[in-house]
Amino acid sequence: MSYEPLIGIGMPVYNGERHIRQALDSLLAQDYGDFELVISDNASTDETQQICLEYAERDKRIRYYRNERNMGIAWNFNRVFELSSGEYFMSACHDDWWAPNYLSSCLEALSSSESIVLAGTMCKSIAPETGKLLLIDHGVSTIGLKARERFKHYKLMLHCGKKNVGSIFCGVYKRDALRKVMPLKNMIGTDHVLLAELSLQGEFITIQENLMTKRYGGTSASHKNVAHALSVTNPMLIRCPYFVREVLMQKVIFQTDKLALPEKVTLSYWSLNNYIKVHFIPPLHRRFQTISRLPAKMVNKLLKPLGVKFTRICSQSARQDVVKLSKYKELIRQFHGCFTDSFFCDLPINKNRCDLLVKLLGTGIGEAMYILAFLHQSIKLDGDVCEFGVAQGATSALLANEVLSFDNKCLWLFDSFEGLPKPSSKDKLIDDIFNLGSIEAYQGRMCCPVESVKSRISEISFPTSRLKIVQGFIEETITGDLLPGKVCFAYVDFDFYQPILTALNFLSEHLSVGGSVIVDDYGFFSSGAKTVVDEFMAAHSHDFKMILPPDWAGHFAILVKGSRPNNGSS
Ligand SMILES: C[S@@+](CC[C@H](N)C(=O)[O-])C[C@H]1O[C@@H](n2cnc3c(N)ncnc32)[C@H](O)[C@@H]1O
Repeated sequence: MSYEPLIGIGMPVYNGERHIRQALDSLLAQDYGDFELVISDNASTDETQQICLEYAERDKRIRYYRNERNMGIAWNFNRVFELSSGEYFMSACHDDWWAPNYLSSCLEALSSSESIVLAGTMCKSIAPETGKLLLIDHGVSTIGLKARERFKHYKLMLHCGKKNVGSIFCGVYKRDALRKVMPLKNMIGTDHVLLAELSLQGEFITIQENLMTKRYGGTSASHKNVAHALSVTNPMLIRCPYFVREVLMQKVIFQTDKLALPEKVTLSYWSLNNYIKVHFIPPLHRRFQTISRLPAKMVNKLLKPLGVKFTRICSQSARQDVVKLSKYKELIRQFHGCFTDSFFCDLPINKNRCDLLVKLLGTGIGEAMYILAFLHQSIKLDGDVCEFGVAQGATSALLANEVLSFDNKCLWLFDSFEGLPKPSSKDKLIDDIFNLGSIEAYQGRMCCPVESVKSRISEISFPTSRLKIVQGFIEETITGDLLPGKVCFAYVDFDFYQPILTALNFLSEHLSVGGSVIVDDYGFFSSGAKTVVDEFMAAHSHDFKMILPPDWAGHFAILVKGSRPNNGSS
């Protein structure tokens, strides 16, 4: 009987002479040695063949195969999977390299639980030419989640930082689980579809240690490169890869045996919704939401006996469900890691931050990261920090936690604590976030007792002497005595035209030069927020600059004082 090693490593390669030695050396130097390494050479025209034969001669664990012609990456990946054996399979790129404990760490994780099907580690991506660190991939972990949640988690990670979750594809798989979702299709984003399908089979784990290094560039740098490497010529696959990917995601959802039919329906709706939200401009997404609400209402009637219903993912109730689940802490931690590595590298470390990010209610993680970044950009300036519109105080607690170490700063919280006021004629409903049917129906909503806000803030030991709560409708309190003399940063989240206008007028006088204001709901929920910000900017173009975040971060506007148009930071 022939001996079968525990791990089969597959290395597809085409013209890899420059880096393949480093990859092979680091695999042969692994502290776990019971593996075979199958190299499939896609008819390289450089020295790859000679190098591989030299290594195969030296180490009997290496087997080298050569194709007559280049069949593309996907084909070659499938080939090394078929040619290799072993309970576990690892796909190794010829230009990556690994720390000596990479394999043993992944194996330990995989053997710790039946339900884990894929293990990887954090990965450094470097520029191929200069070796400069480009980003750190924190990977994906879906431990403890049910099939539907795992799929959602993976897809959310994919959408939040596309380049930040790629390396797990090159992790170590349980072969039986991987076989169920093979072969890899020949299209751009094929690894995403494979991993989404695999996420339904079992859990992923990313060990939070940098044990792998990837050269970013070459094939992965553009769709054109990927299409070329895959030998994809179909224009639909090149021009609309994410649309095709979504169609396949839908197929994956409906073909799996891991979900019951009602779960498939809700997941398919969620997936499509998420796709439109990430890849299209907001008006199209809004239209989809409006149209889909009608059939959703009808379908909900039909689904009621089965005990399931469609839920809009941005609705307050769904968000609260999410918040109740502490397992989302891991997801938030990963988002935070992606953001601080890629976009907000100057953000100081704060050990309590992720706990408070998990508890946010109306504020998404993308927006929260912008709030934190601009807060820290402004906090050294003269003045206090304010939040206009507090509700349950979840964002207030996040702000308080960051302000805590700045002894001379107070946190000012303005709210009626009676909920939203009557909307004005400038407030037209654009997103019916609570499904109330009209903007008028929102009067009195988002009401939360001041005591519960205080207790939320006391949980982080923020000194009461530095907490200034101004209770009452802003139109009245703004004429009172209890107001900050100077403000360095403000978060304005009043939702409606009139109170936002009042807050902005106050801030235009009291904000320090260089300070910033984030106004939430720009172009979202009520039209009033965008109208008032646009009007304010038209009147203040000489002393304020407006920055709009990328779509994925949320609907808000950042107003920075003292920056002339087009000469400030962005
Ligand atoms: C969207 S909620 C704030 C959410 C909060 N910023 C957060 O991130 O969790 C809007 C809040 O603004 C308050 N509000 C709206 N208009 C107001 C006004 N004219 N005066 C005082 N408070 C107002 C409401 O009571 C409500 O609590």
